[in-house]
Amino acid sequence: MRTFVVVGNLATTTPDFSLEDIPGTSGRLDILCRCINSAFVLSHGIRRDVEVYLILRKGPCPKTVHLLGGELRHLNPDERTTAALLKKALALEADSQWRRSTPGIFVRAGDLADLLPRGDETAYYLREDGSDHRGEALASDGTFVLGDHIGLSEEDEAFLEGLGTKTVSVGPKSLHADHCIVLINNELDRNEPIVRDGPVAPDEMGPRDERWTK
Ligand SMILES: C[S@@+](CC[C@H](N)C(=O)[O-])C[C@H]1O[C@@H](n2cnc3c(N)ncnc32)[C@H](O)[C@@H]1O
Repeated sequence: MRTFVVVGNLATTTPDFSLEDIPGTSGRLDILCRCINSAFVLSHGIRRDVEVYLILRKGPCPKTVHLLGGELRHLNPDERTTAALLKKALALEADSQWRRSTPGIFVRAGDLADLLPRGDETAYYLREDGSDHRGEALASDGTFVLGDHIGLSEEDEAFLEGLGTKTVSVGPKSLHADHCIVLINNELDRNEPIVRDGPVAPDEMGPRDERWTK
Protein backbone atom coordinates (compact mmCIF):
# COMPACT_ATOMS: atom_id res chain seq x y z
CA MET A 1 0.00 0.00 0.00
CA ARG A 2 1.31 3.44 -0.91
CA THR A 3 0.42 6.11 1.61
CA PHE A 4 0.32 9.85 1.09
CA VAL A 5 -0.09 12.20 4.05
CA VAL A 6 -0.90 15.82 3.23
CA VAL A 7 -0.92 18.52 5.89
CA GLY A 8 -3.53 21.25 5.38
CA ASN A 9 -2.32 23.94 7.78
CA LEU A 10 -5.33 26.20 7.23
CA ALA A 11 -7.79 23.56 6.01
CA THR A 12 -11.14 23.69 7.73
CA THR A 13 -12.29 20.89 10.02
CA THR A 14 -15.93 21.95 9.63
CA PRO A 15 -18.34 21.39 6.73
CA ASP A 16 -19.49 25.01 6.48
CA PHE A 17 -17.54 25.96 3.37
CA SER A 18 -18.98 26.77 -0.02
CA LEU A 19 -18.66 24.37 -2.95
CA GLU A 20 -18.98 27.48 -5.15
CA ASP A 21 -15.79 28.96 -3.69
CA ILE A 22 -13.68 26.13 -2.27
CA PRO A 23 -10.32 27.98 -2.16
CA GLY A 24 -11.81 31.10 -0.57
CA THR A 25 -13.98 29.47 2.09
CA SER A 26 -12.29 26.22 3.16
CA GLY A 27 -8.68 27.16 3.97
CA ARG A 28 -7.49 25.74 0.64
CA LEU A 29 -9.22 22.37 0.67
CA ASP A 30 -8.91 22.67 -3.11
CA ILE A 31 -5.20 21.82 -2.71
CA LEU A 32 -6.08 18.68 -0.79
CA CYS A 33 -8.75 17.75 -3.36
CA ARG A 34 -6.14 17.93 -6.10
CA CYS A 35 -3.84 15.74 -4.00
CA ILE A 36 -6.63 13.16 -3.74
CA ASN A 37 -7.07 13.28 -7.49
CA SER A 38 -3.34 12.79 -8.11
CA ALA A 39 -3.09 9.99 -5.59
CA PHE A 40 -6.01 7.90 -6.86
CA VAL A 41 -7.31 8.84 -10.28
CA LEU A 42 -6.08 6.92 -13.32
CA SER A 43 -7.21 7.44 -16.88
CA HIS A 44 -9.75 4.62 -16.52
CA GLY A 45 -10.03 3.82 -12.86
CA ILE A 46 -8.91 4.30 -9.31
CA ARG A 47 -5.64 3.18 -7.77
CA ARG A 48 -6.74 0.54 -5.29
CA ASP A 49 -3.31 0.17 -3.66
CA VAL A 50 -3.14 3.79 -2.47
CA GLU A 51 -4.37 5.48 0.68
CA VAL A 52 -4.35 9.14 1.62
CA TYR A 53 -4.47 10.84 5.00
CA LEU A 54 -5.39 14.52 5.10
CA ILE A 55 -4.48 16.47 8.22
CA LEU A 56 -6.91 19.37 8.64
CA ARG A 57 -5.97 21.94 11.23
CA LYS A 58 -8.31 24.92 11.12
CA GLY A 59 -11.02 24.45 13.72
CA PRO A 60 -11.64 23.58 17.35
CA CYS A 61 -9.42 20.48 17.09
CA PRO A 62 -7.45 18.94 14.22
CA LYS A 63 -9.08 16.18 12.19
CA THR A 64 -7.70 13.46 9.97
CA VAL A 65 -9.57 12.21 6.91
CA HIS A 66 -8.54 8.81 5.57
CA LEU A 67 -9.28 7.77 1.98
CA LEU A 68 -8.75 4.11 1.15
CA GLY A 69 -8.39 3.28 -2.55
CA GLY A 70 -9.64 -0.29 -2.18
CA GLU A 71 -13.01 0.88 -0.92
CA LEU A 72 -13.45 4.30 -2.54
CA ARG A 73 -16.63 5.00 -4.49
CA HIS A 74 -18.08 8.17 -6.02
CA LEU A 75 -14.65 9.76 -6.60
CA ASN A 76 -14.63 11.81 -9.79
CA PRO A 77 -11.71 13.77 -11.19
CA ASP A 78 -13.23 17.19 -10.46
CA GLU A 79 -12.46 19.11 -7.28
CA ARG A 80 -16.07 19.96 -6.54
CA THR A 81 -17.18 16.32 -6.21
CA THR A 82 -14.17 15.55 -4.03
CA ALA A 83 -14.85 18.58 -1.85
CA ALA A 84 -18.46 17.45 -1.49
CA LEU A 85 -17.23 14.06 -0.20
CA LEU A 86 -14.98 15.84 2.31
CA LYS A 87 -17.88 18.07 3.37
CA LYS A 88 -19.89 14.95 4.21
CA ALA A 89 -17.02 13.49 6.19
CA LEU A 90 -16.52 16.71 8.13
CA ALA A 91 -20.19 16.81 9.09
CA LEU A 92 -19.68 13.66 11.17
CA GLU A 93 -18.89 13.95 14.82
CA ALA A 94 -15.19 13.17 15.24
CA ASP A 95 -13.45 11.64 18.24
CA SER A 96 -10.45 9.33 18.49
CA GLN A 97 -12.27 6.48 16.67
CA TRP A 98 -12.45 6.29 12.87
CA ARG A 99 -15.97 6.87 11.54
CA ARG A 100 -16.97 5.89 8.01
CA SER A 101 -18.58 8.68 6.02
CA THR A 102 -18.97 7.29 2.49
CA PRO A 103 -17.35 4.13 1.04
CA GLY A 104 -13.58 4.41 1.53
CA ILE A 105 -13.69 7.70 3.46
CA PHE A 106 -13.19 7.83 7.22
CA VAL A 107 -12.69 10.64 9.71
CA ARG A 108 -11.45 11.03 13.25
CA ALA A 109 -10.00 13.72 15.52
CA GLY A 110 -6.21 13.77 15.41
CA ASP A 111 -3.08 15.28 13.97
CA LEU A 112 0.17 14.13 12.36
CA ALA A 113 1.52 12.98 15.72
CA ASP A 114 -1.38 10.52 16.11
CA LEU A 115 -0.71 8.95 12.74
CA LEU A 116 2.93 8.17 12.11
CA PRO A 117 4.85 5.49 13.96
CA ARG A 118 8.44 5.97 15.08
CA GLY A 119 11.27 4.28 13.19
CA ASP A 120 9.33 3.53 9.99
CA GLU A 121 12.15 3.10 7.49
CA THR A 122 9.77 3.53 4.60
CA ALA A 123 8.52 6.97 5.67
CA TYR A 124 9.61 9.96 3.60
CA TYR A 125 9.12 13.68 4.04
CA LEU A 126 9.01 15.39 0.66
CA ARG A 127 10.84 18.68 0.71
CA GLU A 128 12.36 20.78 -2.01
CA ASP A 129 15.89 20.67 -0.59
CA GLY A 130 15.84 17.01 0.47
CA SER A 131 18.20 14.46 -1.00
CA ASP A 132 17.40 13.23 -4.51
CA HIS A 133 14.92 10.38 -4.11
CA ARG A 134 16.58 8.58 -7.01
CA GLY A 135 19.66 8.17 -4.83
CA GLU A 136 18.11 5.00 -3.42
CA ALA A 137 14.99 3.12 -4.47
CA LEU A 138 11.84 4.36 -2.79
CA ALA A 139 9.94 1.71 -0.87
CA SER A 140 6.96 0.52 -2.91
CA ASP A 141 4.83 0.57 0.23
CA GLY A 142 6.26 3.87 1.46
CA THR A 143 4.56 6.67 3.35
CA PHE A 144 5.08 10.11 1.80
CA VAL A 145 4.41 13.27 3.83
CA LEU A 146 3.78 16.56 2.02
CA GLY A 147 2.83 20.10 2.90
CA ASP A 148 0.19 22.37 1.40
CA HIS A 149 0.90 25.81 -0.11
CA ILE A 150 2.57 26.82 3.16
CA GLY A 151 4.69 23.72 3.56
CA LEU A 152 5.39 22.16 6.95
CA SER A 153 6.16 24.14 10.10
CA GLU A 154 9.51 23.84 11.88
CA GLU A 155 7.66 21.99 14.61
CA ASP A 156 6.31 19.42 12.14
CA GLU A 157 9.72 19.03 10.60
CA ALA A 158 11.33 18.48 14.01
CA PHE A 159 8.65 15.89 14.77
CA LEU A 160 9.33 14.02 11.51
CA GLU A 161 13.06 14.17 12.11
CA GLY A 162 12.49 12.70 15.56
CA LEU A 163 10.66 9.79 13.96
CA GLY A 164 13.60 9.11 11.67
CA THR A 165 11.72 10.06 8.50
CA LYS A 166 13.96 10.51 5.45
CA THR A 167 13.76 13.91 3.75
CA VAL A 168 13.73 13.51 -0.02
CA SER A 169 13.22 15.73 -3.04
CA VAL A 170 11.53 14.80 -6.31
CA GLY A 171 13.52 17.33 -8.32
CA PRO A 172 15.10 20.76 -8.50
CA LYS A 173 11.97 22.95 -8.66
CA SER A 174 9.40 23.76 -5.97
CA LEU A 175 6.24 22.02 -7.19
CA HIS A 176 2.64 21.80 -6.08
CA ALA A 177 2.00 18.96 -3.66
CA ASP A 178 -0.38 17.21 -6.10
CA HIS A 179 2.27 17.24 -8.81
CA CYS A 180 4.77 15.67 -6.42
CA ILE A 181 2.25 12.88 -5.79
CA VAL A 182 1.95 12.22 -9.53
CA LEU A 183 5.73 11.98 -9.76
CA ILE A 184 6.00 9.59 -6.81
CA ASN A 185 3.18 7.41 -8.14
CA ASN A 186 4.88 7.27 -11.52
CA GLU A 187 8.28 6.51 -10.02
CA LEU A 188 6.84 3.60 -8.05
CA ASP A 189 4.79 2.40 -11.05
CA ARG A 190 7.97 2.13 -13.08
CA ASN A 191 9.45 -0.28 -10.53
CA GLU A 192 6.44 -2.55 -10.40
CA PRO A 193 6.14 -5.95 -12.05
CA ILE A 194 3.83 -6.12 -15.04
CA VAL A 195 0.27 -6.85 -13.99
CA ARG A 196 -2.17 -6.92 -16.88
CA ASP A 197 -5.61 -7.89 -15.61
CA GLY A 198 -6.33 -6.92 -12.04
CA PRO A 199 -4.64 -8.25 -8.92
CA VAL A 200 -2.67 -11.49 -9.11
CA ALA A 201 -0.76 -13.54 -6.55
CA PRO A 202 2.92 -12.53 -6.22
CA ASP A 203 4.13 -15.77 -7.85
CA GLU A 204 1.93 -15.08 -10.89
CA MET A 205 3.45 -11.69 -11.50
CA GLY A 206 5.45 -11.18 -14.62
CA PRO A 207 8.94 -9.73 -14.79
CA ARG A 208 9.49 -6.02 -14.49
CA ASP A 209 9.04 -4.21 -17.73
CA GLU A 210 12.65 -3.56 -18.73
CA ARG A 211 11.75 -0.32 -20.46
CA TRP A 212 11.08 1.39 -17.10
CA THR A 213 13.72 -0.10 -14.84
CA LYS A 214 16.69 1.98 -16.01
C1 LIG B 1 3.83 24.30 -2.88
S1 LIG B 1 4.97 23.35 -1.95
C2 LIG B 1 5.17 24.27 -0.46
C3 LIG B 1 5.53 25.65 -0.65
C4 LIG B 1 6.85 26.09 -0.11
N1 LIG B 1 7.45 25.23 0.91
C5 LIG B 1 6.80 27.51 0.35
O1 LIG B 1 7.88 28.00 0.67
O2 LIG B 1 5.77 28.14 0.37
C6 LIG B 1 3.94 22.06 -1.38
C7 LIG B 1 4.66 20.83 -0.89
O3 LIG B 1 5.09 20.09 -2.01
C8 LIG B 1 6.25 19.38 -1.67
N2 LIG B 1 7.29 19.73 -2.66
C9 LIG B 1 7.27 20.75 -3.55
N3 LIG B 1 8.33 20.70 -4.36
C10 LIG B 1 9.03 19.61 -4.00
C11 LIG B 1 10.23 18.99 -4.46
N4 LIG B 1 10.95 19.49 -5.46
N5 LIG B 1 10.65 17.86 -3.84
C12 LIG B 1 9.94 17.32 -2.83
N6 LIG B 1 8.80 17.85 -2.36
C13 LIG B 1 8.36 18.98 -2.91
C14 LIG B 1 6.62 19.72 -0.25
O4 LIG B 1 6.11 18.71 0.61
C15 LIG B 1 5.89 21.03 -0.04
O5 LIG B 1 5.57 21.24 1.31
